[in-house]
Amino acid sequence: MNFTTEVLNWHDQCGRRNLPWHAQKNPYRIWVSEIMLQQTRVETVIPFYQDFMRRFPDISTLAIANLDEVMSYWSGLGYYSRARNLHQAARRIRNEYNGIFPQTLDEVVNLPGIGRSTAGAILAFSRNERHPILDGNVKRVLSRYHAVGGPQEKQVTKKRLWELADRHTPEERVADYTQAIMDLGALICRARNPLCGECPVSSRCLAYTQDQIESYPARKQKKLRPIKSCRMLVLRRSDGFILLCKRPLKGIWGGLWSLPQLDHSDLDVNQYCKEMFNFEVISTNPLALLRHGFSHYELEIMPILCEITVSKTVSTHPDQDYLWYDPLESVATGLPTAVKRIIEMMKKFDASLSA
Ligand code: ADE
Repeated sequence: MNFTTEVLNWHDQCGRRNLPWHAQKNPYRIWVSEIMLQQTRVETVIPFYQDFMRRFPDISTLAIANLDEVMSYWSGLGYYSRARNLHQAARRIRNEYNGIFPQTLDEVVNLPGIGRSTAGAILAFSRNERHPILDGNVKRVLSRYHAVGGPQEKQVTKKRLWELADRHTPEERVADYTQAIMDLGALICRARNPLCGECPVSSRCLAYTQDQIESYPARKQKKLRPIKSCRMLVLRRSDGFILLCKRPLKGIWGGLWSLPQLDHSDLDVNQYCKEMFNFEVISTNPLALLRHGFSHYELEIMPILCEITVSKTVSTHPDQDYLWYDPLESVATGLPTAVKRIIEMMKKFDASLSA
């Protein structure tokens, strides 16, 4: 038996039937259900779907409704752009298609909020037309069954999965097959803890037979964050106090106390201390490099411990943007973690000298 037949047989025995959107196979009802099911589980969708259908039983009722009311029926389902798109699409169908759900895949895909897979599912369920589908569940089934590696977001991977989806889609019983493969993904070939022992196609599933279920589908490639680098100065007076400066409110560590920071391309440390603060640098000791991750980049910090002498003529905190901080006495709350770590590194460095 081939994949398709096994999946259909499984569906006949174990698949979901009697879902409310199966009751009448009209494209509007199927469309609303597929949009609700895009990011939400079947059990959660059912009561929302029933309420929505009672209030908006057809396209024209939805099209004349006001958006606020439509949104109120979506409240609790999340991903609210789905409801806005649904409402907008209903108005387009009223205006451009005389209120009749469009006929072709291209027309359906062109409606707001409907991608190729959802369009295929709507036409397969409502008209039993043969269209492959490839939602998240189906992608998982096919990439495991055929051991399709490669990052999912890559065009070559998508193309391969669409080809496989097409190959398995039968000429007959398309609606049943479409529901079957979706259910297989949702109920058996689950992302975590798949139930391979109950799967009708496990004996020919390449990921399963090679004991590689965990490897498929390939995890999304993490976006590489750019690395920026800087120097942070621990400017230490002879009494052991160090200079902190307040970060501008906007940007990283906004409003927190941090260390004076300069790019590698900036001045050298002696010149910087002289020009900024009128400090004389007696000695400099680089501490260990440290990396700190922000949402959009990583900061590679080179901390430099500088012993300084402070000219009596200069005040470093005229506008409260600087303060002298006693690292031995003060509690390090309100300091960014990276700064706390640098202070710890400084203490270890001192300890290594006196050991
Ligand atoms: N997810 C998207 N469409 C679905 C459907 N018709 N049944 C179950 N899960 C789905």
